[in-house]
Amino acid sequence: MAHPDRFLLAGVMGWPVMHSRSPMLHNYWFKQHDLAGAYVPLAIRPEGLAAALRALHPLGFAGCNLTIPHKEQALAIVDEVDTLARSIGAISCVVARPDGSLAGTNNDCYGFIHNIRQEQPRWRADAGPVVVIGAGGGPRAGCYGLAQEGATEIRLLNRTLARAKKIADEFGGPIKALPWAQRHDALEGAAMVVNATSCGMVGQPALDLKLDQLPASALAADIVYIPLETPLLAAARERGNRTVNGLGMLLHQGRPAWKAWFGIDPEVTPELRAMVERTI
Ligand SMILES: NC(=O)c1ccc[n+]([C@@H]2O[C@H](COP(=O)([O-])OP(=O)(O)OC[C@H]3O[C@@H](n4cnc5c(N)ncnc54)[C@H](OP(=O)(O)O)[C@@H]3O)[C@@H](O)[C@H]2O)c1
Repeated sequence: MAHPDRFLLAGVMGWPVMHSRSPMLHNYWFKQHDLAGAYVPLAIRPEGLAAALRALHPLGFAGCNLTIPHKEQALAIVDEVDTLARSIGAISCVVARPDGSLAGTNNDCYGFIHNIRQEQPRWRADAGPVVVIGAGGGPRAGCYGLAQEGATEIRLLNRTLARAKKIADEFGGPIKALPWAQRHDALEGAAMVVNATSCGMVGQPALDLKLDQLPASALAADIVYIPLETPLLAAARERGNRTVNGLGMLLHQGRPAWKAWFGIDPEVTPELRAMVERTI
């Protein structure tokens, strides 16, 4: 909970970490809520993660976010992992509880769904088949969220089929893994396509996906946010599809973290979005 007489602390642990936009986001919320506090980038080497996490409570940190490469390793360090993080196989947020124990959860799924909701208020997960490309941590969170929201068919495609199959086997339900060669045809009749690979990110090749069969009514979403408009989103926009970029996923995943750390549900305002966009 927020205390007027206490300096509130949280941060993001990563290696490297200085590229993270999270400090900008969380420090905006401290200011907006008129709270004395700071959210700091914590450059933690993988071999130092356990000691760094254990230091959160004695240092007075409410908790931290985790970014590359710590999200999986933290599963074996914290004292309690909730079902969501266990299913996704990664922790994105740690809460240091008053007794010093550490609880891990994953807010990427929340961020993914609430970004789409905010940008496309009439969006429904059960509007038709959803095509998800990728099989890393991002798509695991995305698929979990889509399935929870009632998606009836998720066509999951990844360059390495075995990784997509693993997710389909673990999650079951509406997720079907399809071979990479079928990615163009898989768009037929889809209500939504999501790029959850690292393709399209600055310095990476564009996603090799032909949109010819994507219905004009379909929504195209990307979880990559640097650049804000990936080649996939640009191609989708040019042919008339609605698009959602990945920045809001990052912004929205911060909200449940704040709720857990400080008891406040902060807002993703247009001002906040514009402020972060200016740095991309
Ligand atoms: N907006 C947000 O808040 C948010 C949150 C999480 C992640 N992300 C972003 O999402 C992206 C993926 O993250 P991640 O953690 O899931 O990554 P990851 O675990 O490293 O997985 C990378 C994925 O990209 C695929 N890939 C890489 N190069 C490819 C190529 N040339 N052709 C086809 N597929 C290729 C990989 O396929 P293989 O399995 O075949 O190697 C794999 O599925 C990153 O850019 C990350 O920054 C954004």
